[in-house]
Amino acid sequence: MFSRRTDWKLTPNRFSQVQQELIASGRELLDLTISNPTRAGIPYDAESILGSLQNLAALDYDPQPKGLLSARQGVAAYYREQHGVVDIDPEALLLTTSTSEAYSSVFRLLCNPDDQILVPAPSYPLFEFLAILHDVKLASYPLIYDHGWQIDFPSLYGAVNHRMRAVLVVHPNNPTGSFVRPDEIGLLNRFCREHNLALIADEVFLDYPHDGKPRQTFACNRDVLTFTLSGLSKISGLPQMKVAWVGTSGPKNQVGDALARLEVIADTYLSMNAPIQLATPVLLEQRKTFQPRLLDHLRINLEELNRQLTRQTACSLLQLEGGWHAVVRVPVTHLDEDLAVNLLQNSSVVVHPGTFYDFPADGYLVVSLITPTANFREGINRVLNYVAPRQIRAVT
Ligand SMILES: Cc1ncc(COP(=O)(O)O)c(C=O)c1O
Repeated sequence: MFSRRTDWKLTPNRFSQVQQELIASGRELLDLTISNPTRAGIPYDAESILGSLQNLAALDYDPQPKGLLSARQGVAAYYREQHGVVDIDPEALLLTTSTSEAYSSVFRLLCNPDDQILVPAPSYPLFEFLAILHDVKLASYPLIYDHGWQIDFPSLYGAVNHRMRAVLVVHPNNPTGSFVRPDEIGLLNRFCREHNLALIADEVFLDYPHDGKPRQTFACNRDVLTFTLSGLSKISGLPQMKVAWVGTSGPKNQVGDALARLEVIADTYLSMNAPIQLATPVLLEQRKTFQPRLLDHLRINLEELNRQLTRQTACSLLQLEGGWHAVVRVPVTHLDEDLAVNLLQNSSVVVHPGTFYDFPADGYLVVSLITPTANFREGINRVLNYVAPRQIRAVT
């Protein structure tokens, strides 16, 4: 009765199962995997956020497939003010309800069934589902860790075949926190030109560099057909508002053709609602107070993580440049999933095993830096006491 693409194994994996059982039994778990900024203890400006939703213009229905011009102008202003992209054209922006929906439109635009997209590994686990739902196949290219993370270009070249349609980058990547470096952008453009591929750049975490130095957005990449995805979910910490977008840039004729087709895809759904589009410029402005607060919060947790790691030598922090996650290298005494399950059962702490993000081997745990700071401090303490107990006792 159902399509093969929905043939998922719907039972929870062992990690989720154990977590659910412990919660059901009344155990209090310290969750170091939270991804929801509205539960991170960051104050929001309730008055202006809620006030922005009260607009008489929302009584009018003005279906614009790419989204209301005023909202797209707000997004263009964000790129101009925050990233210095002076010539961003609101007509090259298309609003969506989430980055996932933005991926959906781009995959639909580029791929026939069984065409392929190159994605980084390790990276964001949702790509697998997005690909299956659009009958697209993923091929992965490794990021290698050698004095920081870098794209393994020989593997990228080795993975190309005639079904390949695009290469996807996450800038900075989740969970490795690595930005695509300027020299890598040049090499990616050359690679895409040589193989007639589009570039898809997920920049949801772009505004969170840990060294305070802004990184270049792909929204101004004109060398090859480029789709830049981002949204309010991370920029202003407002995932519940459901506003994201795709910016299209590149050679003029390709951009024109892509936009005409994307507009038809968007017109088929018209998924954006009026109140939220009218509020978008105000909600984008929220970043100006939200981002400094969250960056501070990330810095405090990162300092705490480093402080606790200096108490032992068994575990270390992998170099990270930006984003909301940190990867801790741990001794490979267990499979990562077993270790994460043991941490749940023995230490009542929730961390993600690296395998959830397609790390190439065991020995990696992923934690969220947006975790409330007191929980983060205690949670990391429990992780290290479990993973490196003798060392910690020897030092303290
Ligand atoms: C790399 C990456 N892209 C996209 C998203 C989701 O963004 P949205 O809430 O706009 O769908 C996330 C969420 O964590 C993410 O990590």
